[in-house]
Amino acid sequence: SRTQVGIVGAGPAGLVLATLLARAGIDSVVLEARSRAYVQARVRAGVLEAPTVDLLREAGVAGRLDREGMPHTGISLRFAETPGGPAEDHRIDFADLVGRGITVYGQQEVVKDLLADRIDDAGLPVEFEVSGVEIHDVTTDAPSITYTAADGTAHRLRCDVVAGCDGFHGTARSVVAPEIVERVYPFGWLGVLAQAAPTTDELVYSHHDNGFALYSMRSPEVTRLYLQVPPDTEAGSWSEARIWDELQTRLACDGFTLNEGELLEKPSVTGMRSMVASPMRHGRLFLAGDAAHIVPPTGAKGMNLAIADVRVLAEAVERFYRDGDERGFDDYSATCLRRVWRAEHFSWFMTSMLHRFDSSTEAGDPFGVGLQRSQLRYTVTSRAAATSLAENYVGLPHGAV
Ligand code: FAD
Ligand code: DHB
Repeated sequence: SRTQVGIVGAGPAGLVLATLLARAGIDSVVLEARSRAYVQARVRAGVLEAPTVDLLREAGVAGRLDREGMPHTGISLRFAETPGGPAEDHRIDFADLVGRGITVYGQQEVVKDLLADRIDDAGLPVEFEVSGVEIHDVTTDAPSITYTAADGTAHRLRCDVVAGCDGFHGTARSVVAPEIVERVYPFGWLGVLAQAAPTTDELVYSHHDNGFALYSMRSPEVTRLYLQVPPDTEAGSWSEARIWDELQTRLACDGFTLNEGELLEKPSVTGMRSMVASPMRHGRLFLAGDAAHIVPPTGAKGMNLAIADVRVLAEAVERFYRDGDERGFDDYSATCLRRVWRAEHFSWFMTSMLHRFDSSTEAGDPFGVGLQRSQLRYTVTSRAAATSLAENYVGLPHGAV
């Protein structure tokens, strides 16, 4: 079979790309290794930047997001002024500092909305449960993708352009053979989703001697929580009682109550790394999202960056079909990498400021901890420093970096 753009991966990158291309009258086929039920149930990111929300609105897929998403105009940094002292909240007021905010809306809800728009409303193709995906001839103007469909039949999809949107564990990156720079952090995040009403309607990032904790939510009935844990932690090794006990300790603050509740899924542990692959293009193959770069989750940037990449790619593809002009293709990697590196820096900054590092290392020795406290105090007392955090967190305008 044949299409204009072959897209590997039905995560936020692949599905937003397919949507933007469809709006421009460009055909695509999306190939996804997992089932529709699986990708719709995968609990991951929860924070949408302002430019992400604007783009989803422009693409006409923000109906439910506008009804059910939770707009937030700030976050709190929670820490003790002195080691062992009482924790206090310091609010970063996004509305006041930069005049915009974020929206809390689960990544799997974004994925559900995009799939409903494409498959149920428009009748356009997503092939689920494919295997053996291989990408061919990307240095010619007639690349193709071979794969085995869910029913066991072998296929070759011919196309003009291939988008590698298959995430960190995908195969497209190896075809590009980019140079890779990375940093692995010496901890992970244990994440839980609980049937418990959020007691504060904003996110809390807590710096604590026992390690970092994050308080977030998904709805007026569901709380989302994360704990810094050692990197090799088995999710099953923490009992529910221990998880709640540690959350209560690390999030303790005058006037704050953490409601407990039934866990809605098994706790999971995510490793923490930074990774940038460059260039993000080889011939007619373009990498986007986690296939090309990973950020630690502390800055809430991963999904937003994936969506920013495919906006650039969709515009380049439109220009190619409209004017036969490949300059958008030539600029793709450099344009994306400017925003990628801004997000890499911000995510590293938030991670470094908020986590507890081993006391035998430079980041975690008494000097390192003194620097962290100083950075926290500066961030919440200086309008300039708070504004810098705010403009990165709510998302710099697309194209501004
Ligand atoms: P993915 O969502 O990984 O999608 C890739 C798709 O490709 C998958 O569906 C996969 O099944 C499919 N695939 C893989 N290999 C193949 C193959 N060979 N053939 C076909 N299909 C294949 N980001 C934020 O912006 N804000 C947050 O608050 C945030 N919090 C996070 C919290 C956690 C616990 C985690 C784990 C991540 C978080 N992220 C966050 C990161 C965010 O989830 C990712 O950056 C985002 O999913 C990237 O989207 P993507 O489309 O590039 O990749
Ligand atoms: C969530 C995840 C993050 O990584 C973050 O920085 C903020 C919120 C969340 O899942 O709600």
